[in-house]
Amino acid sequence: MVGCRVMGMEVAEMRVKADLTCNSGRISGKMAASFNCITNRRKNMPTINRYIDISTVERETKKDYIDRHSPFIQCDARAKAGTKFPVTVRVGTEYSHPDDAEHYIKSIQLYDGQTLLAEANFPSGTLGGTGQKSQAEVTFHVVPGGTRMRLTALAYCTKHGLWEGDPTEVTVEAAA
Ligand SMILES: [Fe+2]
Repeated sequence: MVGCRVMGMEVAEMRVKADLTCNSGRISGKMAASFNCITNRRKNMPTINRYIDISTVERETKKDYIDRHSPFIQCDARAKAGTKFPVTVRVGTEYSHPDDAEHYIKSIQLYDGQTLLAEANFPSGTLGGTGQKSQAEVTFHVVPGGTRMRLTALAYCTKHGLWEGDPTEVTVEAAA
C-alpha cells in the first residue's frame, strides 16, 4: 500500500496483487492492481473554455454555444489611477443563455492579469427563470493603480463550465 503517481494522477493508496506460478522452470503470472482513494487534482479543476471568434465558426449551433457562454468586457480604453472605473461584463452578444433551475450562468469574475478584481454571483431566476433566456450582465467599479490593466473575465455555467473571454487592455493615467 503506497502513495504515488500513476499516469500523471496522484494516487493516495494503491494495492498490488501478484499471482506467480513456476511452470517448467519459467515464471509466469498475472499482476493486478487496484487503486483506492484516487485524488487527481487536475481532474478536480474545471476546464477553461476560451472564446473563439464566432465569425470563423460555420455551424449555427456551435456559434450559439460559444457566444452564449462567453463573457465580453465593455469599458473605456483609458482609466485614471485612484478613480472608480466602470467595467461592464455581459455573457453573450448575439445569443442568450437559459436561466433554468439546473442550467444558468452562476457567476462572473473580472481579473487584472492573475489578480481577481471583482466577482458577481447569480442564483437561477435572475434572468426570468425556467424557460427564459437572457444575457447575464454586471457592471463593476474598480479603482485602478499602476500604469495599465489587462482585464479578463470568466463566466461559469452550471452545466457547461468555465468560459474565458478575450482580454482587454486599459491604460491607466496618473491622477491629476
Ligand atoms: Fe450553459
